[in-house]
Amino acid sequence: MTETDRQDIVKIITEIVSTVTNMHLYPPTHPQVAPLVDRLYESISMLLEAVPELTLILVDEDIVLHGKPLPNVGPVGKSFVKLLTKKDLERITLLKGLPREQLFDFLNDLASVDVKTVSSRSCIKVGKISFDGELDGESDDFAEFRNTIIADLRALYYGIRSGKKFAIDEVKHIVAQFIENFTRSMNPLSLLASLKSEDEYTYVHATNVSLLAMSLAEYLGFSGKPLENIGVAALLHDVGKMVIPDEILNKPGQLDTDERTVMETHPLMGLQYLTKQADVPSLALIAAMEHHLKYDGSGYPHINDSWRPNIVSQMVSVADVFDALRSKRPYRDAVAQDKIISILRHESGKALNPELVEHFINMIEQ
Ligand SMILES: [Fe+2]
Ligand SMILES: [Fe+2]
Repeated sequence: MTETDRQDIVKIITEIVSTVTNMHLYPPTHPQVAPLVDRLYESISMLLEAVPELTLILVDEDIVLHGKPLPNVGPVGKSFVKLLTKKDLERITLLKGLPREQLFDFLNDLASVDVKTVSSRSCIKVGKISFDGELDGESDDFAEFRNTIIADLRALYYGIRSGKKFAIDEVKHIVAQFIENFTRSMNPLSLLASLKSEDEYTYVHATNVSLLAMSLAEYLGFSGKPLENIGVAALLHDVGKMVIPDEILNKPGQLDTDERTVMETHPLMGLQYLTKQADVPSLALIAAMEHHLKYDGSGYPHINDSWRPNIVSQMVSVADVFDALRSKRPYRDAVAQDKIISILRHESGKALNPELVEHFINMIEQ
């Protein structure tokens, strides 16, 4: 986020607060209200010319944009947080093409004491930070449980970005809860979360990769502490992405060569970060470093010609490729399951371990 972007967003937040305050004091038709709505509408439209969407989320008392808190928003930030909290909202997404009328109605809802629940519109999505189950056969209980996990993980990743102390016990606790709550009779695909907003990709992806890698490990006969360590390793595999700049991490398009070079530092960044933390299982360090290293020895980072990734890194790779392909990204649609399976088979023996690929396919097709 550049300084100009930050200023634009703070300006929008300030204008929302002042417009809603005025709408609260005056009737919606009052001459004081229309120019404020016009000004805000113009600011939002200008911003949405440059980006397809703007998502602001609340984490504790902070306003977070693309995984990072907005610094120095001041008293207006506090008023904004209060405004949303009053309506029990944790997230606002504004989408390109937002009509003025819709913005006006939405602001009216925020200002009105009679409106208890503010609903989403076609170009304004609001709600709690949650990922409701969309896949067939998923139990509400599991969806609710998984939503809590994603929220925990978001807080954890967010903590890492803001330099807070890393809590391995929380990671282990998340994994222990996963193990407790999923049973072998469930098809792991029914457990996966769907992406609701692009800036949540990192946490949702980490959750899904952990669920898939643990399911595969359990399918192969792992249990107890080794299973738990595999879950921890998978949950933390992309932790190095936390030091990759937002512009690259959330770029709504393919990366150019220079950006790709920066992105490809994330395995070593993850290793470096985890090495400095206490009590992290060594498997997590290994998987963070090796998950883009291919079965045939290619990939990155290049260590030496004869180096082959650890079997747990190979499990994480299969889960990683599967979840990345099934997720819709800004630059491509989600890939259909049969197409993913043929990609996995195509990569079998090259990027991916052939035996793991076959077991993984058997597991998800059972
Ligand atoms: Fe990665
Ligand atoms: Fe990944």
